[in-house]
Amino acid sequence: MEIHIVEDVEAGARVVADVFERTLRAAEGSGAVLGLATGSSPVPAYAELIRRHREEGLSFAGARAFLLDEYVGLPAGHAQSYHRFIRENLTSHLDIADDDVVSPDGTAADPVAEAAAYDARIREAGGVDLQILGIGSNGHIAFNEPGSSLASRTRVVGLTRSTIEDNARYFDTAADVPVRALSQGLGTILEARRIVLTATGSSKAAAVAQLAEGAISARWPATVLQMHPAVTVVVDEAAASQLELKDYYRYARCLESESPVAVRG
Ligand code: F6R
Repeated sequence: MEIHIVEDVEAGARVVADVFERTLRAAEGSGAVLGLATGSSPVPAYAELIRRHREEGLSFAGARAFLLDEYVGLPAGHAQSYHRFIRENLTSHLDIADDDVVSPDGTAADPVAEAAAYDARIREAGGVDLQILGIGSNGHIAFNEPGSSLASRTRVVGLTRSTIEDNARYFDTAADVPVRALSQGLGTILEARRIVLTATGSSKAAAVAQLAEGAISARWPATVLQMHPAVTVVVDEAAASQLELKDYYRYARCLESESPVAVRG
């Protein structure tokens, strides 16, 4: 796991956008498969990607995208649906075909069948090249709440009270937040070839410390990412504040960018 502690949100957005840019360039010709998250954490990186597309010609042509999750019961056009969120915050500003941005159907008559079909669609697309993630204050990734199987697949999940309270800011009241979602599973997410997770603020500090340094356990679902060989974590100082090995992570990033002599001082 490669941990970047950045000085501000803009610096973090650039690190995340760099990972996207490398993935898009590596897949040129065949088209990258991107795994997209909603929520507030990736929005600055999405804004940076939109800027690079407009000002630097970064192209998403041929790329396809799969969302991590969708609320059960919200139609695609609902103001708080993740289908709509990703279009408003990213894909409608890029040269990526709208039909190639896929999310679970929150209104499917048979959500269990929809979940299985979603996993199959990701497989048929050749799997995800790059998955971006946020993290819940309780350590969830996608909507894999504490207690989720580390091998779980896309399925219907019940949201915890803490997640409902965290997400109530997007709705008129907490009572309006759907209590169930269709979510990629931890096993599904682990199949992505590269993962970048971004988090800011002290409310994420405990979850980030567990993610990087805690024992792998369903209690903190994000800890499963320790088993993935290509994870980049981008956090600000506040989100990094409970990491015990902070100095080592800084040193390791320095080794990558400076000459060994400069690192030895
Ligand atoms: C969003 C998602 C969630 C969020 C997490 C953090 O698609 O799957 O896991 O990434 O709840 O949300 P924010 O970024 O709003 O703090």
